[in-house]
Amino acid sequence: MANPAPRALLHGGDWNPDQWLDRPEVIDEDFRLFELAGVNIVAIGIFAWTRLEPEEGRYDFSWLDSIMDRLAAAGIKAALATPSGAKPAWMARKYPEILRCGPDRTRDFQGGRHNHCYTSPVYRRKAAEINERLAGRYAKHDALSLWHVSNEYGGECHCPLCQAAFRSWLKDRYGSLEALNAAWWTDFWSHRYGNWDEIESPSPRGESSLQGLSLDWRRFVDRQSLDFFLAESEPLRRLNPGTPIAINMMGTYPGLDYWNWAPHVDVAGWDSYPRWHANHGNETLGGEPGRTAEDGGPSSGMADVDEAARTAFVHDLTRSLKEGRPWMLIESTPSQVNWQPVNRLKAPGMHLLSSIQAIAHGSDSVMYFQWRKSRGGPEKFHGAVVDHAGHENTRTFQEVADVGRGLREIGDVAGSRVEAEVAIVYDWENRWAIDGFYGFGKAERNYERACVEFHRSFWRRSIACDVPNQSQDFGHYKVVVAPWLHLVKPGTAERLEAFVAEGGTLILTFFSGMVDQGDLCFEGGFPGPLRRLAGLWSEELDPLWPGQTNRLLPLAGNPVGLRGEYAIDSFCELVHLEGAEALASYGDDWYAGRPALTRHRFGKGLVYYLAARTETRLLDELSDHVCREAGVGSVWPEVLPPGVNAQKRSDGTTDFIFIMNFNREGAAGLPPYGQRLERRPAARSQNADPARHIP
Ligand code: GLA
Ligand code: ZN
Repeated sequence: MANPAPRALLHGGDWNPDQWLDRPEVIDEDFRLFELAGVNIVAIGIFAWTRLEPEEGRYDFSWLDSIMDRLAAAGIKAALATPSGAKPAWMARKYPEILRCGPDRTRDFQGGRHNHCYTSPVYRRKAAEINERLAGRYAKHDALSLWHVSNEYGGECHCPLCQAAFRSWLKDRYGSLEALNAAWWTDFWSHRYGNWDEIESPSPRGESSLQGLSLDWRRFVDRQSLDFFLAESEPLRRLNPGTPIAINMMGTYPGLDYWNWAPHVDVAGWDSYPRWHANHGNETLGGEPGRTAEDGGPSSGMADVDEAARTAFVHDLTRSLKEGRPWMLIESTPSQVNWQPVNRLKAPGMHLLSSIQAIAHGSDSVMYFQWRKSRGGPEKFHGAVVDHAGHENTRTFQEVADVGRGLREIGDVAGSRVEAEVAIVYDWENRWAIDGFYGFGKAERNYERACVEFHRSFWRRSIACDVPNQSQDFGHYKVVVAPWLHLVKPGTAERLEAFVAEGGTLILTFFSGMVDQGDLCFEGGFPGPLRRLAGLWSEELDPLWPGQTNRLLPLAGNPVGLRGEYAIDSFCELVHLEGAEALASYGDDWYAGRPALTRHRFGKGLVYYLAARTETRLLDELSDHVCREAGVGSVWPEVLPPGVNAQKRSDGTTDFIFIMNFNREGAAGLPPYGQRLERRPAARSQNADPARHIP
């Protein structure tokens, strides 16, 4: 938008006046409290369908008119939602086709949310009708700044309409049954299809073993959900082309490939709910053999550091979706959530710290679910800015007000960019293929964790990282890490080869180059199309039982400077060198002495290949080495203590360096969970683009 307003960071969140329409004094009070908390944006109407259309075709916008007018008068921006995240009961009753079917083909009853059929023409029509009215009514409204389309798209539907849509999507994709049968290798167990109507979505009662089918089903669910989003956004684009569109994504949520969505949204954004103050890191990084207390092991009290690292990964992923443009933290909780196994409070300081962490990684907003706690319903004990106590004299409210003040003070950060020379590839299709195959070990087959661990090895040195998928151009990076690049799409190997040939450094690992985009194994030896780059042939993969280990023994004089030994668990690949040199070998078992870490010169660049899953200390030392070798520096000149992280944004004139202490003790001159911002003259010009600040 051609908006000459001064740069400002956004602060606010989901506000649900529709839950309080019979209590006008509560809404008045909210406006008083918005000001105290420094709120300048609210997301409204997210689940308001029954208040907007209480009966079919009878619309009531009177309350929303008044809310929008009051927001405009107060100078607060509205992120106006489309209501499709929860369908009205009258609609489900009249049109049962909008109810989702599960994989067992039974149809759900009405209830919950995020559960409509995304194929149903009726639901699409109903959503388009109400969205058309919303866009027509509010397109020119002063308060409207952003469309918040639906809420957390996700899930899948197996109804007859979706089955038909799946078949027609397959027809488009393959052209002929012959091609489909070949791609899915259907002669195995006599699965050959002779008619399109024989194809059914995966089901525990039916087909669950055909991995080509399962992978395509995931692709279809993604495309069909996207298609629904495009359909419901059409009236918004048509009637209101000037207002940007955002959706609240869910980070690494496995059900959708957000790279396919990114071109169709104007702003990337996600709902971030880290598990702060857990006493272990098992669900993220901790718990692996060999992680030392200093590294943040389960007993080190550094679970928050692990969680900060994982959150940093997702922030970087979200930013990368839109080429590094400022993104939005669309939801977070100011205190606790209500859906984790244990819903801890944020310790004093943590709310400001976690909010600043998002800003430091390129967000231009800090937003919450939700503004005011509901008295009833499923989320009445979910944290909110305004407690059931109903006033501002609560610890949470005061911490939120601190964030509001803090964001106002650093408003000039808005629009600035993060620049990274390191890329950690995270690829949804690759994840689907890895999650889907039978074979090797299942227990430790956690692709996301593999990516997070590598990312963390750079993060702990405050080295900026992007998180692209495998289809991006890598030319502007110095270091690319592609953990477990099992499924290699057409063109990926060529782009990686060009990147390395020109002097880039690439790190590959076991599980690489095993299947093509159709999930068929590469012939002629793994890592398939990456073999020339890796300079080796991976002949076999030996998975270890939980508790079994091997050791990685560095070779004397190895250029990485590895010394001693490093624990190996879960996966050991057995490779033959074809131009690569061994830097370390296995210490145990019948393959002791065989290469476990290699390096290959390719053109002007280098390819490291890690054949086994090791303790993270090895990843740390390897990433330190490649950064030195490739001339990649930390964003902060001093070495920071463990758990203290720096991130940089720049507008080309000023570098904004955020220093954040994720330790529950003081460190680097910062209190427990403390943070500070340093401004420096910009080190070098950046492609700052303040015109793109949102919304
Ligand atoms: C999601 C949803 C919100 C709310 C929060 C609770 O992010 O979008 O409506 O349910 O979770 O944490
Ligand atoms: Zn359906």
